[in-house]
Amino acid sequence: MIIAVDGPTASGKGTIAKALAAHYGLPHLDTGLLYRAVGRQVALQGGDPDKADDALAACDFPDAVLSDPELRTEHTGGLASRVSIHPEVRRALYDRQRSFAMQPGGAVLDGRDIGTVIAPEADVKLFVTATVEARAERRFREMEDRGGGGTTLADIAANLRRRDERDSGRKDAPLAIASDAYVIDTTGLDRAEAISAVIEIVDSALKARAAKPR
Ligand code: DC
Repeated sequence: MIIAVDGPTASGKGTIAKALAAHYGLPHLDTGLLYRAVGRQVALQGGDPDKADDALAACDFPDAVLSDPELRTEHTGGLASRVSIHPEVRRALYDRQRSFAMQPGGAVLDGRDIGTVIAPEADVKLFVTATVEARAERRFREMEDRGGGGTTLADIAANLRRRDERDSGRKDAPLAIASDAYVIDTTGLDRAEAISAVIEIVDSALKARAAKPR
C-alpha cells in the first residue's frame, strides 16, 4: 500500500506520515529532507541556490548530509524551497523517491508532489493543511522547546507565507491538492486527534477500495 501525504511546511504532515507508517508497518520517507540536503550541500559548496547549475551539482550530496542537524533549521528549509524550484533538481531526486514508493509492500512518503508526481497511483492520498497562524505557532513552540531560535512569531509567519508562495507558485510540480486527495485541516486538532482522524480516513478509503468491483 502506498500512502502519499502532501502539504505545506509545518502543517503536521511529517508527524502524520510517521504515525501512519508506524500504524500500518510501512517504511517512511520524508522527501523534504532530500531537498533540504541539496540546499545544505549548495551552502557547503559555496554555491547559489537560485542557480540551477549550482543546485544540480549539489544533488550528489554525500549520505552523511542527511543526518546533519542543520537540515532541520528554518534557514535550510528556505534553501530547500529555493533549490526545489529547478526542474533539473526535481528530476535528479525523482528516481530515489519513485523507487522508495514502489518498493514491495508499499511505503508512506510525505512532501509536496507525492500524490501528483512521485506516486500518482498511491492507494490513499492525503493533503494536510492548517492556517498560517496555527503553523507559525507550532514552529515557534518547537523552537522554544529547543531553547529558542531568536525569531519572533511574526517573522516565522512571514517566512511560512514566503515558502508557501514559492512552493505553490513554481512551474514544475507545485504544491497542489491532487484531485483524489482527502484534505485534512489540522488547525483545531492536537497531535492525537489528527492522527486518529487520518487513520480513520485511510481505513475507510481502503474499505471502499476493497468493496469496489474490479
Ligand atoms: O517539507 P519541508 O519543509 O522539509 O520541505 C522543504 C522544502 O523542500 C519545501 O519548501 C519545498 C521542497 N520540497 C519539494 O519541493 N517537494 C517535496 N516533495 C518536498 C519538499
